[in-house]
Amino acid sequence: MSTLTERVTATLRDIPDFPATGVVFKDITPVLADGQLFADVLGDMAQRWRGQVDVVTGIEARGFVFGAALALELGTGFVPIRKAGKLPGPTVALSYDLEYGSATIEVHDDSFHPGQRVLVVDDVLATGGTAEAACRLVEQLGATVVAFETLVELAFLHGRDRLTGRDVRTLVVVD
Ligand code: PRP
Repeated sequence: MSTLTERVTATLRDIPDFPATGVVFKDITPVLADGQLFADVLGDMAQRWRGQVDVVTGIEARGFVFGAALALELGTGFVPIRKAGKLPGPTVALSYDLEYGSATIEVHDDSFHPGQRVLVVDDVLATGGTAEAACRLVEQLGATVVAFETLVELAFLHGRDRLTGRDVRTLVVVD
């Protein structure tokens, strides 16, 4: 009987040279396509946080898939953190460095409130820039980040170093 981590590891698909030459992309779409596996992943994430979070937030785009499903499992609302320029209302934004260049994410400025316990969800932790910025956006609006939950961690990119002091949970660690 294989563990959930082993099942996800066996299902992830390696795509060489995407999005750039020399990069091996970890494609999570086969995990979503396997209904039983997707449900088991969500069940695993949900049992950790049931009753402990008031709202789930997910980071565009694949963080929406896990985050929204997890919010339904937990019976909470869901808040999308989006790439710049996509949200219609007033936002707070944060820019962060990428390996080459920078990126900006934003959220509606009434999305979180002081005292709220927020679970931040994404599919992959790579360099950690996106996750760190998302956590800081939540905190900028006065709420508390309970944890960062993700399916896959690319440990060789040391994303955890940018999340020191935070509760970081990953199902699959790629060394
Ligand atoms: C990927 C992934 C995370 C982020 C992780 O998203 O889904 O959000 O990169 O990278 P980092 O730890 O180095 O910041 P991407 O920007 O590819 O967006 P997508 O989900 O819209 O494809």
